[in-house]
Amino acid sequence: MTGETTHRLGVLGSGKGSNFVAIAEACAAGSIPARVAVVLSDVAEAGILGRARALGIPAHYLPPGPYRTKLDEAAEAAYVAALKAAAVDWVLLAGFMRILKGAFLRAFPGRVLNIHPSLLPAFPGLEAWRQALEYGVKVTGVTVHLVDQGVDTGPIVRQGAVAIHDDDTPETLHHRLQQTEHDLYPAALNLLLSGQWAVRGRRVVGTGPAGKGGQPQP
Ligand code: GRF
Repeated sequence: MTGETTHRLGVLGSGKGSNFVAIAEACAAGSIPARVAVVLSDVAEAGILGRARALGIPAHYLPPGPYRTKLDEAAEAAYVAALKAAAVDWVLLAGFMRILKGAFLRAFPGRVLNIHPSLLPAFPGLEAWRQALEYGVKVTGVTVHLVDQGVDTGPIVRQGAVAIHDDDTPETLHHRLQQTEHDLYPAALNLLLSGQWAVRGRRVVGTGPAGKGGQPQP
């Protein structure tokens, strides 16, 4: 695979979709060799669906089934079918609030990416910015990682640090984290789409001239 291929991305989100917009804009600007082929949400009124439709990108609400934190088997199959119908080669989770396991991950082996608003392995799970603030750390950040069977545990592609200010509230901190997310997600995706990377333990490392270490050198 080379950087000249036009990849097809499927984006899953449950919320307002600011990361989706950052990725769609980077694709439109030609800074990512890809296009968003479809957006799926488990929340009928999620902002991400309206934002996708406004950009002319097919966007569908797919009911998640009876569980609160995961998709049931039938829903998982429906998500896989919609992504396959759109011929996507990478799946990006962008604020998708359900855990994806077994059958879904087997349908896109090594091709599911997530963004999490902390420096993993610190503060996995929900509202990571609030967890960081409550714990009292001075620095938190953002992690883009490949998705494996665990929760927020897959190989790390990129991380970006964000300082916590003494007067931060959960809202101000989350806002700054999101600004970092909007740069980090497209950058991480670019490395993966270049094909010039490998997984070493828990780390995705760049193997090409541009991506040494998978992370820009300080
Ligand atoms: C982001 O903060 C992301 O890290 C987390 O969910 C949020 C989604 O935000 N997983 P948006 O819908 O992309 O604006």
